[in-house]
Amino acid sequence: MNEPFSGERDSFTSKFGVIAAAAGSAIGLGNIWRFPYVTGENGGGAFLLIYLLFVMAIGLPVMISEFVIGRSAQKNPYGAFRMLAPGRPWFLIGLMGVAAAFMILAFYTTVAGWTLEYFYQALTGNLSGKTDSELTQMFNDFQQGSFRPLLWFLIFMGFTAMIILSGVRKGIEKYTKILMPLLLILLITLCVRSVTLEGSGAGLRFLFNPDFSKITPKVILEALGQAFFSLSIGMGTLITYGSYIRKKENLASSAFYVVTADTLIAIIAGIAIFPALFALGGSPASGSGLVFIVIPAIFQKMPLGDVFALIFFILLAVAALTSTISVLEVIVAYLVEELKMTRRNATVAATLAVSVLGLLTVLSLGSLGNIKILGRNIFGLLEYLTSNIMLPLGGFFIVLFIGWFYSRKKTRDELTNDGELRAGYMPVYMFLVKFAAPIAIAIVFLYSLGILKF
Ligand code: PHE
Repeated sequence: MNEPFSGERDSFTSKFGVIAAAAGSAIGLGNIWRFPYVTGENGGGAFLLIYLLFVMAIGLPVMISEFVIGRSAQKNPYGAFRMLAPGRPWFLIGLMGVAAAFMILAFYTTVAGWTLEYFYQALTGNLSGKTDSELTQMFNDFQQGSFRPLLWFLIFMGFTAMIILSGVRKGIEKYTKILMPLLLILLITLCVRSVTLEGSGAGLRFLFNPDFSKITPKVILEALGQAFFSLSIGMGTLITYGSYIRKKENLASSAFYVVTADTLIAIIAGIAIFPALFALGGSPASGSGLVFIVIPAIFQKMPLGDVFALIFFILLAVAALTSTISVLEVIVAYLVEELKMTRRNATVAATLAVSVLGLLTVLSLGSLGNIKILGRNIFGLLEYLTSNIMLPLGGFFIVLFIGWFYSRKKTRDELTNDGELRAGYMPVYMFLVKFAAPIAIAIVFLYSLGILKF
């Protein structure tokens, strides 16, 4: 078999291959870094509840729809819409996806770089014996320093590009089947330590006891954005991956497994973080550094903590890597198939362009921190625009496309593999993509813009 993703259409070799690659994309910093910090900033339990609702009612149908579009068109998102809806403006969704991919890579790889820094710090014994406030100080100094975050960013971007180019990607995906369960075991170990710390109960209550007075338009929009971001949906990542799925795989059940795994990991990360955070007397609303301060702090309170920290951060880096390659793949597939670039040139061009934006993004947390657009620094702006606006907007049009434009027969054929599988969920799925999901997204947008009031 050819190397996958080489420009020639190729496919994942097994059901597990599909799920592993899509889960590799979905599971990453979104679950372990972003979920806890966004949940912390948005009031805890009530946010979690809304998030779960969005994952099931909107996220799952969007993911299935992306798989349907990708596998039936066998193309990158832009090309897929051009082919399935010739002469119509649906291809704009594909272009927005490529733009979102650039923006996500810039801030995501920044955070991925932090995992390398912490791996390095653990390796050189620098986390050892540090108090909680020293760990906070260490994180802040690191960010302000600019040079190191920049270096790690570039190294991580380089790794991502190398994997896209070298064809070792399949190998990486093979290893994720071993490495991700290991990460899960470490996370569960962290949970055990976290909930057995004195005063941890408040953290569990924060996460699981919804306080509905905390719900605001902002909280709802953030929950929607986090659902999209964490599931890798709304920008065509899974259209691209869908195009590599073999004809005999069951798209809906694959999507269901990916959504379940992704959601479980996020919740487990929450159980690892919040009890410890409350036990240590920290504030849940301390922003994007939360996990990088709390997790080393928990490890400090465990036997062999330094070794665990070392393993944890390298596994987290791998989890991030299987996500960054899925984002870069969107840009590269577009450049190769639509602009007829070679895979090599496409990868180099995309990597250079992302690196320029990434440079500004990294510096926006340090020396360029005073540049504010819409009240946010560049990092915050990219994160906000992509997860809260572009991905949900992309998802909105993707479900509308399947619900109202694309032939229902073709959708059914794709979901049943031309009649081989049963798809008893079809009516529910069609209801979700036609009505529930697009209406819910529209309401969240209008509500958070203040146009709609309850
Ligand atoms: N879902 C990934 C994560 O949670 C991030 C991602 C977003 C990947 C969008 C692809 C597309 O880490």
